[in-house]
Amino acid sequence: PQTIYFTRHGESEYNVLGRIGGDANLSPRGERYAHGLAEYINRIAGHEPMAVWTSEMRRTKQTAAEIMAPKRAVRALNELDAGICEGLTYEEMQERFPQEFAWRDQDKLRYRYPWGESYIDIMTRLRPVLSALEDEDHVVVVGHQAVLRCMLGYFLDSKLDELPYMNVPLHTIVKLTSYGYKYKVEMIKLPV
Ligand code: F6P
Repeated sequence: PQTIYFTRHGESEYNVLGRIGGDANLSPRGERYAHGLAEYINRIAGHEPMAVWTSEMRRTKQTAAEIMAPKRAVRALNELDAGICEGLTYEEMQERFPQEFAWRDQDKLRYRYPWGESYIDIMTRLRPVLSALEDEDHVVVVGHQAVLRCMLGYFLDSKLDELPYMNVPLHTIVKLTSYGYKYKVEMIKLPV
């Protein structure tokens, strides 16, 4: 059966500061997750050919660095572009752009950051990646919070309105195994 291992990148310096977006490096904790993830996946990749897809961002490439399998950096896997709010904390966004903050709160799915994207925009740009993913047998996707909410929502048939609120924690592998047209989900939390 097909197995897809989804994971967010390890904790980044921006995650530590609560800042949105950016292209930060992993924190020391994030580095530890990268080691643990590689150990976990390399054990499996010993018996099954494995592909690794990351985004083009540093934090996903650093998270996948020690996995011994062919890697592809896919632009469509980059995190939600927060436009004028890139690099801010949510608090700073609320202070500087109260109207934007309120709009996002009212309709998180459709809200598009000025000069940036919405969750719906992500679904649109992910479409080709999602069909390509269905052709892979064993693949690790190292992604980002918003993008993984959309991908998991797609595979698990979630309601669109629920996507922006799905819980996709750091340092956890979400393993999807196909059976028929459905997927079984396992959450594997790695110690960091
Ligand atoms: O905070 C990490 C992050 O990946 C941001 O880069 C991104 O804007 C955000 O999460 C998406 O989550 P939410 O839609 O809940 O703000």
